[in-house]
Amino acid sequence: MQKNPFLAVINHEAAQRPPVWMMRQAGHVLPRYRNLTKQTPFRSIMANSKLAAEVTLMPIEDMGMDAAILFSDILVVPEALGVKVEWTSEGPTFPAPLLGNSNPVESLDFDISRLAHVADTLDEIQRQKSADTPVIGFCGGPLTCLCYMLGGRDRSMQFTDVVRYLYTNREDAKMVLEKLTSATEEYVHLQAAHGIDTFQIFESFAGTISVELYESLIMPYVRRIAAAARSHGLPVIFFPKGFGVGIKMLTKNDCDFVSVDWHTPLVEARKMIVPSLGIQGNMEPRLLFASQKDIEQQLKAYIPFFRENPDWIFNLGHGLHKDTPLENVRFVTEWIKNVEWK
Ligand code: CP3
Repeated sequence: MQKNPFLAVINHEAAQRPPVWMMRQAGHVLPRYRNLTKQTPFRSIMANSKLAAEVTLMPIEDMGMDAAILFSDILVVPEALGVKVEWTSEGPTFPAPLLGNSNPVESLDFDISRLAHVADTLDEIQRQKSADTPVIGFCGGPLTCLCYMLGGRDRSMQFTDVVRYLYTNREDAKMVLEKLTSATEEYVHLQAAHGIDTFQIFESFAGTISVELYESLIMPYVRRIAAAARSHGLPVIFFPKGFGVGIKMLTKNDCDFVSVDWHTPLVEARKMIVPSLGIQGNMEPRLLFASQKDIEQQLKAYIPFFRENPDWIFNLGHGLHKDTPLENVRFVTEWIKNVEWK
């Protein structure tokens, strides 16, 4: 049997075709998941290892993805540090963001036992999945978690108060980042001990600060998280959304694959990213609302790209939207699996 294409490519081995998975594939769009949320709220699904494992594997069964991503959320780490998070139908809200405290770091106290349900979920996934299905573990990037922890939800997505704090209270911010990163490292070790095959760092808010500030202040913490994953032999995918030309500066020290956002044309991204790093991405998720004819037009452009760049994993440039037509998601996965790539 041929090796799973995701496992081949993530380990820089040749594959017959590019592997395919999509950010936010677990939950969000699948009717089976939506039905489940009618009876069981998001937090309860996450906390229930049987249900969370089922949702993790649904995209393999119902959408034909090549890899499963753990069903959880990046905010479980801030929560295990003591930050209050509430889950509403519109996403997470924060009753007491840390900027309201004169000393934000003071209230943080990491308790890994609050993440025990993730270990149980990963064990359950191992029991339920077929042998050749890879499992992707993940965490939030340091800046993305920090934005939520300090600022709470910001509908404008600018996090101006948080960015200002980075310039006015740098040492306090560093103390929070330090605690967050130590907690995240432990969380990586927990996931690695329970059978994940790859680790992805979701830095969705990389674009909220300048590339220079990201490089100097945040990147050292990203490297620590990546090193924790690599200490278990796990390849690391880094998704710095909105990082722009910052992707030029990434090296083998930082990650193994760069997940490119939809702002950057893939061909340009490939020129900017050093050749030793693989590339993942980056279809515009809202293109999935277009006609299949228009979608196919875009897909065809990937054929010459893959011929020249076999170190490529198909994905979106950000997560799937909730009301994406499932038939279009399936159209894309089937197309990628069946078209002639060579
Ligand atoms: O990819 C996957 O489906 C795996 C599980 C996963 C979830 N969240 C489940 C979820 C992953 C990898 C995440 C990451 C995450 N969570 C990020 C980084 C990636 C990104 O999208 O930028 C961020 C910023 C969060 C925080 C978060 N959680 C937001 C902003 C929201 C609301 C918007 C949304 O995505 O629906 C959530 C809720 C959330 N996380 C849901 C799911 C399935 C929706 C809950 C529901 O209505 O059922």
